[in-house]
Amino acid sequence: MALSYYKEELKQTAQSLATKGKGILAVDESTKTIGKRLASINVENTEQNRQAYRGLLFTTPGLGEFISGAILFEETLFQNHADGEPMVKKLEKLGIIPGIKVDKGLRPLAGGKDVETFCSGLDGLVERASDYYSQGARFAKWRAVLQITDDGCPTELSIKENAWGLARYARSVQESGLVPIIEPEILMDGSHEISKTAEVQERVIKEVYMACQQNGVFLEGTLLKPSMTVQGAVSSKKEEPQVIAEMTIKTMERSVPASVPGIVFLSGGLSEEAASVYLNLMNKIERKAKWNVGFSYGRALQHSCLKAWKGNDLNAGQKALLARAQANSEASKGCYKAGSQPSSDEALFVAGYTY
Ligand code: 13P
Repeated sequence: MALSYYKEELKQTAQSLATKGKGILAVDESTKTIGKRLASINVENTEQNRQAYRGLLFTTPGLGEFISGAILFEETLFQNHADGEPMVKKLEKLGIIPGIKVDKGLRPLAGGKDVETFCSGLDGLVERASDYYSQGARFAKWRAVLQITDDGCPTELSIKENAWGLARYARSVQESGLVPIIEPEILMDGSHEISKTAEVQERVIKEVYMACQQNGVFLEGTLLKPSMTVQGAVSSKKEEPQVIAEMTIKTMERSVPASVPGIVFLSGGLSEEAASVYLNLMNKIERKAKWNVGFSYGRALQHSCLKAWKGNDLNAGQKALLARAQANSEASKGCYKAGSQPSSDEALFVAGYTY
């Protein structure tokens, strides 16, 4: 099949994912990363425990009211729930579209600076995406990472290579009917001010869409997953939430085409509460383009849930997940009241974070 065959379906899927008031649950942590999360609640990283945890998430009653899609790691896409039913089926029952992380992780960028990486996984991607489609996935994710440093990162080489990789990925999965979530994350690491983040992010996202054009990516069948425009984590100048919301929208308006149906932010180490508050403020700003402004959070949706579950309390875990899902759903409509849902203020930022 070719992209032209899937165009209408891609557009429909992207629009469903970007439904106002709904967002994406990112649960595509690699086996190593989920191991760190489970270790934080003293749960061993076994396939059975991963199945139990993700099974909890995907059987939360009412979750589909706030969540349009869930990004899975390959293991989960092909896994059954402990009751024998496929995980994908559990999601379908809730009205949640299954997605899949297709990148194969970050690698050092030869010719770049020390911290710079490119994202691997393009080899055989059209074929892999086709297998994922057969298994029920309808969208994909690929995460490229850039970092701002005092010694000139991101370099032009890293911007160009990561933008090109994102566009090659997007075109490849569209050939197999999956909507690409295009994720150029700018890490929060660093001491830079917010204006520097805005400048770099505008440059990066523009390059991403230039590469998308060169690769013939069908923009109506894509979503963008950027980080919010925030100052560096150790910047001496801490900005107010309103400034962050305004700077983020301004940066998006300067760089994201109006034909993209939705921007779904990552949480990137923000606390659960901050991720909801910033999203809410963004949705109160009148925007020039009509893209939906929503969320695709990992840590900011799961942190309280993991802590409440503790490896054995299913009901408490589901309650905590639903609370954050509802909070972010409200924030996507600009009607979230800070503190109205239980949340954690704990900063989830870890320097040099690897996903
Ligand atoms: P965070 O919201 O924890 O940043 O995760 C989202 C994600 O999918 C990162 O690739």
